[in-house]
Amino acid sequence: MMAMLGVFISVALILGTANAASLGSVYTEGGMVQGKSHSVGLFRYMDVFKGIPFAAPPGRLEKPVPHPGWDDVLKATDYRMRCMQLNLLATDVVGSEDCLYLNIWIPQGNTVSTNLPVMVFIYGGGFLLGGGQGANFLDNYLYDGQEIADRGNVIVVTFNYRVGSLGFLSSGDADAPGNYGLWDQHNAIAWVHRNIRNFGGNPDNITIFGESAGGASVNFQILSPKNNGLIRRAISQSGVALCPWAVNRNPRQYAEEIARKVGCPTDSGMVACLRRTDPKAVTLAGNVKFSTSASEPIVHNLALSPVIDGDFLPAEPDTLFGNAADIDYIAGVNDMDGHIFATLDIPSVNNALVSTPVEEVRALSVALSESRGLDAGIATYEEYTVNWGSKPSDSDKSQVSKSNPYDSSPSMNVFCRENNTIMTQYVISNSMSSFLPHSDPNNGESSVPVRSCLWIAILVYWRLTKQLKFLISLENITKLYATVLE
Ligand SMILES: *[C@@H]1O[C@H](CO)[C@@H](O)[C@H](O)[C@H]1NC(C)=O
Ligand SMILES: *[C@@H]1O[C@H](CO)[C@@H](O)[C@H](O)[C@H]1NC(C)=O
Ligand SMILES: *[C@@H]1O[C@H](CO)[C@@H](O)[C@H](O)[C@H]1NC(C)=O
Repeated sequence: MMAMLGVFISVALILGTANAASLGSVYTEGGMVQGKSHSVGLFRYMDVFKGIPFAAPPGRLEKPVPHPGWDDVLKATDYRMRCMQLNLLATDVVGSEDCLYLNIWIPQGNTVSTNLPVMVFIYGGGFLLGGGQGANFLDNYLYDGQEIADRGNVIVVTFNYRVGSLGFLSSGDADAPGNYGLWDQHNAIAWVHRNIRNFGGNPDNITIFGESAGGASVNFQILSPKNNGLIRRAISQSGVALCPWAVNRNPRQYAEEIARKVGCPTDSGMVACLRRTDPKAVTLAGNVKFSTSASEPIVHNLALSPVIDGDFLPAEPDTLFGNAADIDYIAGVNDMDGHIFATLDIPSVNNALVSTPVEEVRALSVALSESRGLDAGIATYEEYTVNWGSKPSDSDKSQVSKSNPYDSSPSMNVFCRENNTIMTQYVISNSMSSFLPHSDPNNGESSVPVRSCLWIAILVYWRLTKQLKFLISLENITKLYATVLE
């Protein structure tokens, strides 16, 4: 019986291999591209294309322009470097200015797929950090599209966009209007719309989705008239364009600060000088102040964000929702998303031995809702503490750090408010869970052993591999961390 079964399986595998459906080389507007195909199960295959340029290497503080194309077949088998950005300790930069590339996963059965829905992901990272492939733990990439593509029978696309100074510095005038990172995102979406049919996708069924700054980006993309007709559906996880941190309303001031740090004038010569300055220095100058408190939360320090430039964003986001009228839109929050920020602002929420004063939580609520007025802050606090009762216990307060990430209690700390209505709240540890193998938010199978930034690295590594391959020491965690931003 076992032998029979073995023969059957071998035959099935051979047939499976013989029938392997694959696109082979694909014609795109820039030229031919060749990816790789591999089996992901019985009669299930995955075509993967990595590192296809969707625009030319960008000019500094300039909008992206089309790629001139290539003659030979482009080998699209490796991720390209992320866009130049600060490393995690903000001591140096990683990545490259030549970074406008995308990656595509196409699920195949016995015949080559056609007309598949397409999902395009926009990563988060505070408009300062991030890459299309996500953090890398020993060759496990956080934003590997295979799991979603295989389970959902959809095409998945990830891509790089510029972040930090090179992506969002704005002089507040026509010299360097800003929003380069948003233009990159738009160019990637438009490229997908123009080319995805050749990969078996339906250009009229594109869903964009993103997390944190990527969630806000998704919202900006559907609000901008530039994407008219390109997007059918959109999902914002833990960030929308109405979040106070999502728009920089005083970009000139911050641009001048950066200019001074790199020795450029702050007059009409500023932008020309910034463009010829070493991009590493300009990137390093776009650092975020890490000293925070409940009344001065870290998100207040995010200054390299999108701007109302009168072009990509013709007006305040809340006046542009009419542009998204034909787009199905979900905005929500990944539970525990934002935990990392809360622990920076109120460290005691992450310490079981230290009680968190109620006043601190109130101060944070008020500070995070500042742009909506004091009433909004009080309402945020009341919503957040609705289950606390009149004498909150430490265990109530420690919900902030310990509740099950998938339960519906208000386990989060950062609220974005619009007219006293909670628009979104956010945290970090499960923010990327849509990409992880065998993690299904609806199963509530995850716990959140988050005690510090470093624990997140371990958690993600654990979730990716489902096993810890070596003992954890601080030294090894540091090493792991160093490999994250490759
Ligand atoms: C887009 O794809 C989804 C998922 O397969 C499907 O339900 C929907 O009908 C498609 N829409 C269009 C317009 O093709
Ligand atoms: C929000 O407030 C603005 C004015 O501040 C008002 O115009 C708008 O109608 C309000 N929106 C809702 C949903 O109440
Ligand atoms: C660190 O990791 C290496 C494997 O990369 C392992 O051999 C070593 O035992 C680990 N050290 C500690 C202290 O966990």
